[in-house]
Amino acid sequence: MKDTKVKELLNKMTLEEKIGQMVQVAGDIFLEEDINVSTGPLKDLKLSNEMLYNVGSILNIMGVDRVKKVQDEYLSKSRLKIPLLFMADVINGYKIAFPIPIAQGCTWNVKKIKKMTQISAMESNIAGVNVNFSPMLDLSRDPRWGRVMEAIGGEDPYLGEIYAKAMVEAYQGEDISKLGNIASCIKHIAAYGAVEAGRDYNTVDMSEREFRQYYLPAYKSAINTNAEMIMTSFNILNGIPATINKWLIQDLIRKELNFKGIIISDYSAIEETIAHGASENEKHAALNAINAGVDIDMMSGIYANNLKDLCLESKEIEEKVNQSVLRILRLKNKLGLFENPYGNLDKEKEKTYIMNKSNLEETKKLTQETFVLLKNNNNVLPLKEDKKIALIGPYADNIGITGSWSIFSDRTKNATILEVFRERLGNENVLYSKGTEILRQDEINKILKADGSPTIFIENEKEKEEASIKEAVEVAKKSEIILLLLGEHYKQSGEACSRSNISLPENQINLINELYKLNKPMVMILFNGRPLQLNNVENKLDGILDVWFPGTTGANAIIEVVFGDVNPSGKLTMSFPQSVGQCPIYYNHYNTGRPHTKDFRYMSRYQDIPTESFYPFGFGLSYCNFEYRNLKLNKNVLKEKDHITVTIEVENKSDCAGYETIQLYIQDLFGSVVRPVKELKGFKKLYFKPHELKIIQFEINKEMLKFWNSDLKFVAENGEFKVFIGRDSENTMEKNFFTK
Ligand code: BGC
Repeated sequence: MKDTKVKELLNKMTLEEKIGQMVQVAGDIFLEEDINVSTGPLKDLKLSNEMLYNVGSILNIMGVDRVKKVQDEYLSKSRLKIPLLFMADVINGYKIAFPIPIAQGCTWNVKKIKKMTQISAMESNIAGVNVNFSPMLDLSRDPRWGRVMEAIGGEDPYLGEIYAKAMVEAYQGEDISKLGNIASCIKHIAAYGAVEAGRDYNTVDMSEREFRQYYLPAYKSAINTNAEMIMTSFNILNGIPATINKWLIQDLIRKELNFKGIIISDYSAIEETIAHGASENEKHAALNAINAGVDIDMMSGIYANNLKDLCLESKEIEEKVNQSVLRILRLKNKLGLFENPYGNLDKEKEKTYIMNKSNLEETKKLTQETFVLLKNNNNVLPLKEDKKIALIGPYADNIGITGSWSIFSDRTKNATILEVFRERLGNENVLYSKGTEILRQDEINKILKADGSPTIFIENEKEKEEASIKEAVEVAKKSEIILLLLGEHYKQSGEACSRSNISLPENQINLINELYKLNKPMVMILFNGRPLQLNNVENKLDGILDVWFPGTTGANAIIEVVFGDVNPSGKLTMSFPQSVGQCPIYYNHYNTGRPHTKDFRYMSRYQDIPTESFYPFGFGLSYCNFEYRNLKLNKNVLKEKDHITVTIEVENKSDCAGYETIQLYIQDLFGSVVRPVKELKGFKKLYFKPHELKIIQFEINKEMLKFWNSDLKFVAENGEFKVFIGRDSENTMEKNFFTK
């Protein structure tokens, strides 16, 4: 409908109806026989039944029948029949679980990421989603933080920027009301990835320059791509919780970045400002949030129970409420919900499109590009089918490979690695032993207890563990090569999964150590949601293939890479640490006055471990062997509005074909503020036929050299620069140039 109609509708609304639009609840209650908010899951929100039928949006209800039922029940009792908005966390896919976001980032393939996002948007749109809480654009430098698994751009602002744009475009399309398009709610504003020591929900204190230079670009890119919504973060940003931070929301997001869409709090984050000690009580929390500019209160009763009094006390607050409600109504209108409250819900397509064969096939290919080959001594991979292979480890016969955020996908549809191996090689040719559990039960119990779930006691767990490892050793003895399927538990990464120890679990390390004694080649397929500390096992392994949490098609994707039908091409987007004590660790750090170039005591270094990362940003091997040579610049002075052309020869020196991602980094050698040792400024992922030689070309212009200088201006300062090209952030060739 026309915008004037939307405004007319706003004028017809009572204050309670307006406030209701600014409240989001979990929708299960509308599915109950006897709807009563003073009992059941919404009890804590202290909503009135009247307010329930005024709420504007619903969290995480999906599926054609369920969504329809909720919408019908709501509309049957709502006076003005303003449809509900359905918002959800479709983080790595709806029914098809894609690889987790950190893995998707490792493809360095923007087209493929777009494709995954489009499939995810289409599946979830058919099933009722109007708004998706994705992408998560929090720059992440600390693998202790469990949410790094959701960070598509990893530790890099440039990748973050590119992926943010691609994903928002893919979710929203040209017109968000059209089938297959949904509104994107980017999150979490702001700098959530920088929480102290990786502790979730914690403190962030950083200079404005650091924030603008590294953390803001991905969010900004999504805003410039017209993302419809923003979610605030749980953390404090420079002394004030992000959710009530006026500088952040008003000055930066609304005024400077001109964001016109809706701002929603994270789950109960408005209420949490009381625990932060930044709001005195509930009413004050509501006042702080509305003054900062939060339009929707997700899952706390703060707006529902306090905004009315605040509006009656102040015309200014009432006006802010009107503005927020207008934004919400406009989004509903843009989605076409006033004409059709069911959006693109479609029972028929739910049956035919969701999990369809061609999308699953496509997904498998995308998944293969997320795998990162971390080690491949003596070309142990790909495996030969005629060798006797033993599959050992808790992930060999496990369907829990979709990651902690794939809350809508049906894990029972996942094949296991063991199944696909047996299918390919024949039952009799596959040796298998579980070896050990992913985690000891007492570790799992800690997680279950914190979840409020019942714990399990296992009698003689230690003895059972030893026996199981022994059994695995016996099985492995019969093999020529051991394929280990190991990693983190999916409940160990994601929200509220901060960890101080990011090694493999002790029982899995014991398994590796015992098998190592057999002196057979060992390859580890690693399942994980974060960079892990691998220095305590790596030297025992001949090969390591990191497959993250690969999702629905994971097992089939893995077997094809293991046997060389497909060549791995992923490159890391987060550095792997030598040791957890090195975290946060990232490639684009500053130099100190004593750079750690020499092995000399009074340098910025560790005494006990190398200072460099274990695996650097951008790292990832291939079954091909690529040679880089002849880095050339067409000139070495860059003038205003001009560019330098950089070329390098890359040759595939092997008999197989494969992708290589050629990376361009720049260093500004001197600036009004210190500049990082390297910054990614470009990359090309290209397919090489066997023995193919390509001349790769990049262009450098002044725009790429801009940074937030000592006056907090975004400018390029003239001087000397280094350009690096290489296969990862450490393995590069370099040349200098100047700007005038
Ligand atoms: C998370 C968000 C998520 C929201 C809704 C919160 O706990 O931080 O990322 O979108 O829940 O489920």
